[in-house]
Amino acid sequence: MTVISDFMQQDHVDIDAIAERATAAAAAGDATTMVREGAEFLKRLQRHIDQEEQLLFPAFEERTGMREGGPSVQMKMEHDDMRPILEQMHAAVAAKDAAGYQKASKALFDILVPHNQKEEQMMYPMLDDTMGADAGALLADVKALGA
Ligand SMILES: [Fe+2]
Ligand SMILES: [Fe+2]
Repeated sequence: MTVISDFMQQDHVDIDAIAERATAAAAAGDATTMVREGAEFLKRLQRHIDQEEQLLFPAFEERTGMREGGPSVQMKMEHDDMRPILEQMHAAVAAKDAAGYQKASKALFDILVPHNQKEEQMMYPMLDDTMGADAGALLADVKALGA
């Protein structure tokens, strides 16, 4: 079963597409679009992180008992590394600061690209394997969070 993998991987793709629109607008000096798409990107990424941290990772840790030093712990540490940069991006959106947004966005994606690869190649498949027949019910909760 790949129900969790498919959904979360598609969310990465959708969120990346919003990020592309925000950085393209920032590069073109289109502050209005940068603010709109940047705010949407930050909202969607936060929801995605909440889905992982509040539902998916706790379910994984519960089932496997892998709390200390497991893959979900590493993923949460990488989320923590993103938080100050996300704050900078929020500030840049609020200030309509295209250059600041671009700089922070680049720093974020240096972390986010390999992070998403690890989730897609390891974390999500392990979640699907671990949850088995319960993956669908967990995914329903994920979809409902913040919807
Ligand atoms: Fe993540
Ligand atoms: Fe993710």
